[in-house]
Amino acid sequence: MSVEQLPRTLWWEDGAVHMIDQTRLPLQGDILVCNTYEGVIVAIKTLAVRGAPAIGAAGALGVALWSHTQGAEFDQTNDDYLAAAQIACDELATARPTAVNLPREVNRLRALIQQHVAAGDLTPSELSELLIAEAHSVMQQDEAANRKLGAYGAELFDGPTKFLTHCNAGSIATTYYGTALGVIYAAQQQGKVEHVWVGETRPVNQGGRLTAWELLFAGVPAQLICDNMAAFVMGEGLVDAVVVGADRICANGDTANKIGTYGLAILAKEHKIPFYIAAPSTTFDLSLADGRTIEIEVRDSREIEGVTVSGTFDATTPAVSAAFDKMTAEGPAELPMTKGHHMQIVRKGGGYAFDAWFKTTPTHVTCFNPAFDVTPAKYITAYITERGVITAEQIPELM
Ligand code: MRU
Repeated sequence: MSVEQLPRTLWWEDGAVHMIDQTRLPLQGDILVCNTYEGVIVAIKTLAVRGAPAIGAAGALGVALWSHTQGAEFDQTNDDYLAAAQIACDELATARPTAVNLPREVNRLRALIQQHVAAGDLTPSELSELLIAEAHSVMQQDEAANRKLGAYGAELFDGPTKFLTHCNAGSIATTYYGTALGVIYAAQQQGKVEHVWVGETRPVNQGGRLTAWELLFAGVPAQLICDNMAAFVMGEGLVDAVVVGADRICANGDTANKIGTYGLAILAKEHKIPFYIAAPSTTFDLSLADGRTIEIEVRDSREIEGVTVSGTFDATTPAVSAAFDKMTAEGPAELPMTKGHHMQIVRKGGGYAFDAWFKTTPTHVTCFNPAFDVTPAKYITAYITERGVITAEQIPELM
């Protein structure tokens, strides 16, 4: 297996946006088909598509999809068209708040709409074709940037290296190839990967479910650890470099990334281990001087309160399929359990796929669930980008 055999993250096909449903990986390789831009928004909010560059691409495809499916309802020279387009763009751009790639790519397509509506030079279907082509450019540029930054990153390492990474900054977090994992894939091709430690990344387990799956798929030697084991492996001398991705990098280098990244950066400094952020230029936000004003997404506490198990019942077993049909006939099945706990089973699509959520914490416990944290620039050794490996001081000049 090699990285080049990894599936595509998302694509345009038959007038709809298709994507791998990442909520169900690695158990199921389901393809989610979004026929409306509202469907793309749900996919972004529910993490079916996730990772900063991937949601940027999804946002761009979402704008194209709005134009393709709903834009034709309006006279394009009329103000109504622009007003409706603005609403769709606003909803897409704000589906998640922390990664800058999402508003950046949506606004890239929004600007095209504004330009051509003002000029009145295209029919609705011509404009929609143009937007689909632009969304494809977003995706091609992202993949090219990832391959380039991966090559720059691999040059940082001289020989067999023991890496640690967090969350999933891999191929499926981008259009293709990945950022932090792009560096590791490029290093692997040069025989420079001795080992990769993958942090599980509670609460949604992007490391345990997605990064571990990607690295095994690509034939990279990797082992999973719980997040609270990072200090131990660093202390034992088992980590040579930490490489993670980013959701938004400010002008001074402060970097928002998956919750837990900040702690890893402090640990790396204490153990004198270099700490790298791998990200394309589209993840830099020079409009923010520092990380204090980055909006941190706070997600549903149910991600911490319980666990979700995904699966598909064997429809060839009549007793099981009949029981499942009955249980979910009127929507999600709420099954009461002892001590006030409950289990919820949600049917996925029209088939026998399901998500079952079990509450594992005390009934009345409350949780705080910030999805990202901000690592101050002083903990970051360098930023691996498609324009080269740069320091925080070089960001205003090169990004
Ligand atoms: O909540 P997620 O899974 O979208 O968070 C993703 C991350 O934090 C990634 O590390 C980041 O987006 C970089 S992806 C190349």
